Amino acid sequence: MLKFAERTKGAKRSAIRELLKYTEQPEVISFAGGLPDPATFPTEFLAKVAQEEILHNALKSLQYTTTEGKRPLREALIRWLGEEGIKTTMDQIVITNGSQQGLDLLGRAFLDEGDAVFVSLPTYLGALQAFRAYQPTLVGIPLEEDGMDLSFLRRAIREAKRAGHEPKFIYVVPDFQNPTGITWSEEKRKELLEIAEKEDLLIVEDIPYRWLRYKGEHIPTIASLDEGGRVIVLLTFSKILAAGLRVGALVGPQEVVNMVVTLKQGADLCGPSLTQRLAVRFLTDYDMHAHIARLCQHYKVKLEAMLEALARHMPEEAGWTKPEGGLFVWVKLPEGVDTTKMLERALVHKVAYVPGQPFFADGSGQNTMRLSFALATLEQIEEGIRRLGAVIKEEVATLTLA
Ligand SMILES: Cc1ncc(COP(=O)(O)O)c(C=O)c1O
Repeated sequence: MLKFAERTKGAKRSAIRELLKYTEQPEVISFAGGLPDPATFPTEFLAKVAQEEILHNALKSLQYTTTEGKRPLREALIRWLGEEGIKTTMDQIVITNGSQQGLDLLGRAFLDEGDAVFVSLPTYLGALQAFRAYQPTLVGIPLEEDGMDLSFLRRAIREAKRAGHEPKFIYVVPDFQNPTGITWSEEKRKELLEIAEKEDLLIVEDIPYRWLRYKGEHIPTIASLDEGGRVIVLLTFSKILAAGLRVGALVGPQEVVNMVVTLKQGADLCGPSLTQRLAVRFLTDYDMHAHIARLCQHYKVKLEAMLEALARHMPEEAGWTKPEGGLFVWVKLPEGVDTTKMLERALVHKVAYVPGQPFFADGSGQNTMRLSFALATLEQIEEGIRRLGAVIKEEVATLTLA
């Protein structure tokens, strides 16, 4: 009889993964994946520098490295974050295996059972999974078009305290959020900082999609507006370079970084040297800004195609976000539609999406879905949304009849 730890009791694999297996059939048009388009990976550059690093720099690329991560990478990040108005130093950065590891290490560092973590409804599923391992109380805050409902957040913090759940941090993805594509306004970013200041809370600002803006003006990061050392930034090379390299970074107050480094030692000693070296070379020897501009052009066309197809094929009862960047569009259907159940029918019609419910910490959101436009071709986007529109129209009609 295996005696797993008590805290693993709540661990569950996503039920939708089972259904998503079918999305891999070649005739299915899938908007389900959350992956970047591999066509955007700079393969020739990576192959060339990987060969150089292995042949001529083996000591730095194939040996263990420090837990904090490679110095030249952290130096390059200081310069890059400086362009974003985020002032940081060497000992405020730890390189992580993707930002996902940052989420896990923050859970390990801060969360005792029952502690309150505030997340938007909906939020990134991987963050919920990472935090849940530490048995916190996840408090869901409704997400509006310009960010969290902050009056709701204020009340929720008070209520959590009253119920004995110590508030630890607020987790946000303020730029082109996964799953909704929503971006926070500057006003709400500032107000969130005021709340964190007043309540003595940390903010975890996760920004994987920040550089994938296809139109509109950049809005300052919360970290760049912060003067009180309250913001921990998670960034990653997954969406702008290559996801499989697993290079990300956690940037924050020195005490937090010290603790995270200590915990990371126990987790993996250090991140992979070779992929950190590739990230250094990307930041120093490649025209990163031109690369990002190409990525944005690549995805912009797909996003526009999806928004146009939605306008053409969705029934009037459906609503959807109109993001200015990122990889996702979020669709809301009338109450009563269950997108998890509907997925089976969608698959019969050879189209797939991700049901929205798992992104909600409180189990709501049955009538929502996430669509990714990253992997499909323009023709597939048009045809896939046409199929999906037909499935939804049928579903809404049965609802009206019932
Ligand atoms: C909001 C958000 N945070 C973190 C991650 C994890 O990314 P990675 O671990 O590849 O950096 C993702 C991946 O999709 C994401 O959407």
